Amino acid sequence: MGKALIKVFAFMIILVVIFLWVGYTVTEMTGGEKKAQAAVGVNPEAGEAIFWGKGRCSTCHSIGDKGSAVRCPNLGVFGEKFTLPIGLRAAERAKEREKQTGKSYTAVDYLLECVGNPSAYVVEGYKNEMPTVYAPPISLTLEEVKAVISYLQSQGGEVNIEAISNPPGEGKNLLNRIAAAVSAGGGDPTNGEKAFFDASGAACGTCHTVKGNGKAVGPDLSAIGTKGVKHIQESIVEPSSTITKGFESYKITTKDNNMIVGLKKGEDGEGVELITAKGEVIKVPKSNIAEITQETKSLMPEEIREYVTVKDYQDIVAYLLLQKG
Ligand code: HEC
Ligand code: HEC
Repeated sequence: MGKALIKVFAFMIILVVIFLWVGYTVTEMTGGEKKAQAAVGVNPEAGEAIFWGKGRCSTCHSIGDKGSAVRCPNLGVFGEKFTLPIGLRAAERAKEREKQTGKSYTAVDYLLECVGNPSAYVVEGYKNEMPTVYAPPISLTLEEVKAVISYLQSQGGEVNIEAISNPPGEGKNLLNRIAAAVSAGGGDPTNGEKAFFDASGAACGTCHTVKGNGKAVGPDLSAIGTKGVKHIQESIVEPSSTITKGFESYKITTKDNNMIVGLKKGEDGEGVELITAKGEVIKVPKSNIAEITQETKSLMPEEIREYVTVKDYQDIVAYLLLQKG
């Protein structure tokens, strides 16, 4: 009787072990659990999942004979045109970029450029059609962008995660650009700069200077990026919520019943000088001032939402975030 029980017990243990072993092997073979775990962080496995999934790269790119897209450069070895996988090809392209720009490029800098600013270098025979993958609707995060780059490195090249975060050459600027754009909801700083100075659009440049461009009515914004995305967004959407020190508005009522609103530019024994929203400087003699009061409203127009598109707004925020002095 006791012996029979032991036999049943032993049989059950063997069954359990077999189950566990089968389960483990199947998971190993399919890469199921392992992949799910690896799909976070900056590593080629996570990058692979993004390349063939969320990043939508595979809707345009194949890698060797993997994938079915043919419109865009194959990122593996393919045909006569693509004799090197992208991990190695990147080093060749980097040399080309150094010649073209006079700036310093390594393989990782080139890969960062492919994703961070694809229109900077357009592969011969193709059109400038690669989308901004960190803007909607793809909206990769900075970490996901880095993961994809490590996956591209792993295609024949050397995976160097450290170099992705600390690129030796031009990639540094690209990384800043991507980081700024990502945290600004995917804005495009190049278009942002255009929109900022576009006199018939946002016209921010009629009141602000950035690195010497524009007109200095309001504060210079050459280092505004250091104040962070929240401050920038708030300053644009709700200018009166926080008034930059030294840029308070004043209203002068003159004795002949005129009203002038502007920033105080100067004051002396003779009068007060105001600069208006249009950039006009008006000096009001003291003898003509009936009343002078400080306004709670910003001189910066409140209704910016009405003449700036959402895209231009996102792009302007991305551009301003890059201004770190
Ligand atoms: C809508 C199509 C499209 C999508 C989506 C797309 N690309 Fe591209 N990509 C292109 C085109 C077109 C080119 C060639 C023109 C150029 O160089 O900008 C290109 C070029 C590249 C190159 C340079 C190849 C070389 O030979 O030097 C790399 C690397 C690259 N893409 C990576 C990616 C990655 C990674 C993703 C996903 C995160 C992606 N692409 C998504 C269209 C696309
Ligand atoms: C009529 C002039 C005027 C226009 C046009 C204008 N601004 Fe301003 N802006 C100001 C003034 C004056 C201030 C300072 C008072 C304040 O904080 O609101 C200011 C403040 C700011 C600040 C905060 C600065 C700081 O030091 O914290 C930002 C950011 C800003 N503006 C961005 C913009 C952008 C972007 C646009 C275009 C969409 C724009 N401004 C258009 C006058 C203007």
